[in-house]
Amino acid sequence: MSTLPRSDIGFIDLLAQRRRLGTRIDDAILSVVNSGAYIMGPQVQAFEGALAEFGQAKYALSCANGTDALVLPLMAWHIRTGDAVFCPSFTFAATGEVVPWLGATPVFVDIDPVTYNLDPSHLEASIQAVLAEGKLTPKVIIAVDLFGQPANYPAISSIAKKYGLKLIADSAQGFGSTLEGHHPIHWADVATTSFFPAKPLGCYGDGGAVLTDDYNLWEVMDSLRVHGKATKSDLSTQSFEHDPKYLNIRIGMNSRLDTIQAAILLEKLAIFSEEIDTRNRIAARYNELLGGYVSVPTLIEGAVSTWAQYTIELPNRDGFAAFARTRGVPTAAYYPIPIHMQKVYSRFPVGPNGLPVTESKAGAVISLPMHPYLDESTQDYIVETVRLFVGRNEI
Ligand SMILES: Cc1ncc(COP(=O)(O)O)c(C=O)c1O
Repeated sequence: MSTLPRSDIGFIDLLAQRRRLGTRIDDAILSVVNSGAYIMGPQVQAFEGALAEFGQAKYALSCANGTDALVLPLMAWHIRTGDAVFCPSFTFAATGEVVPWLGATPVFVDIDPVTYNLDPSHLEASIQAVLAEGKLTPKVIIAVDLFGQPANYPAISSIAKKYGLKLIADSAQGFGSTLEGHHPIHWADVATTSFFPAKPLGCYGDGGAVLTDDYNLWEVMDSLRVHGKATKSDLSTQSFEHDPKYLNIRIGMNSRLDTIQAAILLEKLAIFSEEIDTRNRIAARYNELLGGYVSVPTLIEGAVSTWAQYTIELPNRDGFAAFARTRGVPTAAYYPIPIHMQKVYSRFPVGPNGLPVTESKAGAVISLPMHPYLDESTQDYIVETVRLFVGRNEI
């Protein structure tokens, strides 16, 4: 058994990947710096092409962050006051936050106790409750691929179809995950992601993207990310002799991915599949070594997760976090306060009978260090820390 606490364990070790990619990243950044094409340089389009191919979508549109990636399709669909958008509460605030930006109402739905993702039966009950009340019009479902595993898309997309709703896959944590070999876009109208550095596919700052098979939607979102500039389709019905960005057809925003970030992401995307495999090997090893001691994660059948987080449940989660800290093992609780329990969101509705699973899981889950460069001896030390805590608790 180890005796001295360690001080070198990262929750996510971004620098290990940095060391691996070395001069490839340096060269990518410098090529942008020396080119002068800092905004919408050629790497942006190249990256969008590579991302669409990776995510099995026809089109990818990069943008400034994963939050904007969620609002862009909502804006393109004209979501507004009086519209209901159904989403989980057990997620990062961004998932629900974009809805009131547009004056629409988020309706929070409970999660499945095993996968932590949207519970399809509570989703349907929530849609029916909104319809029965008759005050809001159901428009969109945002499913989240929490901790990296795909939501139950076959069930959720059939509910979306049944009620005529759009479906967004918020894949900020799960971009790269698959269900029976399909990426979420197979079922969703759009899949969104975030390139926040700690995400499985992260850049060196902020970034995001929307994937879709719908060219018209892509074109409108392309306009919205550049202040509502005229698109090719807009210009087919009117002539404009200047830069189309000065013909503002829509109320848009500024949400571009920096060229430097696109250049970095091109390098990172090249090793992403391999990193997903490694993450899965590490998660399987955690499962094997921790299985008898704590509740370990379970994936929906046919899923490959990106393991944005490796999340366990054990009694006295906060006591474990404190104990782990004494041994130099960083942990994190995602998410200690579900969105519907945050004061500022308390005015928004929740589905029938509240969100008991969400509320109980928020106090029970804790995530352990997880990244593709976690070596076995460090993982053994983390496992030992969990086992020691569980053993102590039993005494
Ligand atoms: C589920 C989920 N959705 C959306 C976002 C927003 O992404 P960003 O931080 O790039 O705006 C995040 C990022 O933390 C997330 O985890």
